[in-house]
Amino acid sequence: MDATQEIWLNGDFVPWGEARVHVLAHTLHYGAGAFEGVRAYRAEGGTAIFRLDAHLDRLFYSAASIQMPMRFDRAALRAAAIELVRRNRLEEGYLRPIALFGYGVMCVSPERAPVDVAIACWPWGAYLPHEMVDLKISRYPRIPPNATVADAKLTGNYLNGILAVNEIRGTRYHEVLLLDACGNVAEGSGENVFFVKGGALHTPRLGAILPGITRATVMEIARDEGIEVVERDIRPGEALAADEAFFTGTAAEVTPIRSIDDRVIGGGEVGPITRRLRGIYLDAVRGREARYRRFLTAVG
Ligand SMILES: Cc1ncc(COP(=O)(O)O)c(C=O)c1O
Repeated sequence: MDATQEIWLNGDFVPWGEARVHVLAHTLHYGAGAFEGVRAYRAEGGTAIFRLDAHLDRLFYSAASIQMPMRFDRAALRAAAIELVRRNRLEEGYLRPIALFGYGVMCVSPERAPVDVAIACWPWGAYLPHEMVDLKISRYPRIPPNATVADAKLTGNYLNGILAVNEIRGTRYHEVLLLDACGNVAEGSGENVFFVKGGALHTPRLGAILPGITRATVMEIARDEGIEVVERDIRPGEALAADEAFFTGTAAEVTPIRSIDDRVIGGGEVGPITRRLRGIYLDAVRGREARYRRFLTAVG
């Protein structure tokens, strides 16, 4: 991780190395924290944050889902994110806002715990640094929506993904694919998944997955391009028989999938629809697509 100069913590810009929380912080012990992953890009007119408002919406939704009172309103966090990128002179990279229950009480209920809010940013290249990725279907099902708030970005939800990626350590697989509790395709440990079949895009419907902001962006791009998008239950067998497959995520952007459980998808090459959508997405995030410039927040 490449450190930058400052981190915004509870209203102040503090030196990177001094942005600390107590070891007895509640979230560290029980996993109730809300966070986001956001990217800033070197865009046409200077650095811009992509879909900042959608990420802030999801952060506040996630915090509300665990009854976490946010100490700062949306406008304050929005201004802090922009100012942080500017102060750190980050031209391109990743932002990590997090709201956590801090130090003060030690019992499962976070009711009386104070809330700490931070935003960090740093330069960060490709999350899945491969032209195409090979996946293994995990034996851990995606944590079901009746056991957690599956559509919130909560720290504790990630234990599920950690167990899944631990299984592929030391293997040739790059990422995992989790199924939902009914055996339908859900998502990767940090990505949503799409399949191309007969010229249309198919993706798991909302419910057991994180409603990805990149997923929504790619669906909008596809529809604008006249490509049909179908949100539905997808059985693993259908996934393996797809013509093309790809992941989406803020960190992963659009990453083509080569194989799943050693079965090569389509011809094992980046397919034409994946290539087209990836190209438009990468143009959109850098402000090269007038249609999607509204998603950019200029840092100035
Ligand atoms: C489990 C999971 N699914 C999907 C995504 C993709 O979401 P987004 O496109 O909003 O980054 C992420 C990343 O945040 C994730 O962690």
